[in-house]
Amino acid sequence: MYHSKIAGLGFYVPDNIVTNDDLSKVMDTNDAWIQERTGIQERRHIIRNEDTTTSMGVKAAKIAIERSGIMKDDVDFIIFATLSPDYYFPGPGVLVQRDLGLKPIGALDVRNQCSGFVYAISVADQYIKTGMYKNILVIGSEVHSTGLDMTDRGRGVSVIFGDGAGAAVLSREEDLSKGILSTHLHSEGQHAEELVLKAPGMGGRWVTDIMKDKDPNDDSYYPYMNGQFVFKNAVVRFSEVIHEGLQANNLQVSDIDMLIPHQANLRISQYIQKKFELSDNQVFSNIQKYGNTTAASIPIALTEAWEQGKIKSGDIVVLAAFGSGFTWGSVIIKW
Ligand code: UT7
Repeated sequence: MYHSKIAGLGFYVPDNIVTNDDLSKVMDTNDAWIQERTGIQERRHIIRNEDTTTSMGVKAAKIAIERSGIMKDDVDFIIFATLSPDYYFPGPGVLVQRDLGLKPIGALDVRNQCSGFVYAISVADQYIKTGMYKNILVIGSEVHSTGLDMTDRGRGVSVIFGDGAGAAVLSREEDLSKGILSTHLHSEGQHAEELVLKAPGMGGRWVTDIMKDKDPNDDSYYPYMNGQFVFKNAVVRFSEVIHEGLQANNLQVSDIDMLIPHQANLRISQYIQKKFELSDNQVFSNIQKYGNTTAASIPIALTEAWEQGKIKSGDIVVLAAFGSGFTWGSVIIKW
C-alpha cells in the first residue's frame, strides 16, 4: 500500500481577456451585477482555431510534467476531466496521449463537471495506492465560450463561465503520513436537470435529434442552470463534504492551512469561509480573473496558490467541489 502525492502542477489560460464590460456590449448585463453576484471581473475565452480543450490541457500538462521531475515516458496513465470535449467521442484523454507523444498507456475520461477534477484525483489516488501505477497525469480543461448563449436569454449562465486548463502529476509516495490522506465523493441525480446541457443527447428522456437544423428557439444546446437552487445546495454540500474529510482524518477546521474550493462563485467561497471561520490566507480565490472554469478551476487555483508560495510542505490542503449532477467531493492532502 502506498500514498499518492501531487508531484507537479501547471495551468494554462488563453491570452484573450473578456471583461464584464465586454459582455455588456453583447447582452443585457453590467459589471456591477456580475461583480456583486459572482465576484467575477474578467474571464478568458479561447480564440477559435487557436485552442481547444485538449490543446489547453496539453499545455498545462507539459508544465506539470516538467515540474514533477519525471520524464513523459514515466507517465503510466492519463485521466482527463471535462464537460467540453473537442469531440463527442473519443474523449480528450487519447488526444493527450497522442499530442504529448506518450507511450500507449491507458486514458480515462471523467464526466463529472465541476467535481470532475476531484473525482479524477480520487481515481488516480486509488490506482497509485494499490501500486498499479506510479505516475498519473490528471487534467481538468474546459472551453465554455464556444457553447454559451451570448444573448440576453443566456445572461444568467454565460457571464459566469470561462475557459482554461490545469494539470497535476500524481506520483507514488512511500511515506504514509504524507500525500493524499483521503477522498470523498457523492452524487444526487434527482437534481440532474437543475444544471444541465440537454443536447446533443442520444437517449433517455431528453432525446434530441443530433442532426437537426439549428432552430433559434431551441435552447437545449445551451447550458441551463437553476442558479439559486444550485447555490443553496452548493453551500450545504461544500460544508458537509469538507467536514466529512476532516473527520475521516481526525482533523479540526483549525488544521486547514489552505482550502481550494471549486471556483463556482466568490459568494459561495465567502459563505464557506465565514461558516468555517477561516482567514483570507486559508481560502484561495481566483474566480475574479478566470470566472468559473468547472473541471479546470481547482487545478488552476491549486497551481496559482502553489506558485505564490501559499502551500508549504506539511500543510493540510483541502480541495472541495460541487456541481452539475449534482456531484460533490473533497480531497484531504498533507503536502
Ligand atoms: O459551478 C457549478 C455550480 N454553479 C454554481 O454554484 C452557481 C450557483 N449560482 C449562482 O452563482 C447564482 O445563482 C448566479 C450568479 C448564477 C445568479 O445570481 P442570483 O443572485 O441567484 O441571481 P438570479 O438568478 O436570482 O437573478 C436575479 C436577477 C433577475 O432579475 P429579476 O427577475 O430580479 O428582475 C435576473 O434576470 O438578476 C437578473 N440577471 C442578470 N442581470 C444582469 C440574471 N443574470 C443577469 C446578468 N446581468 N448577467
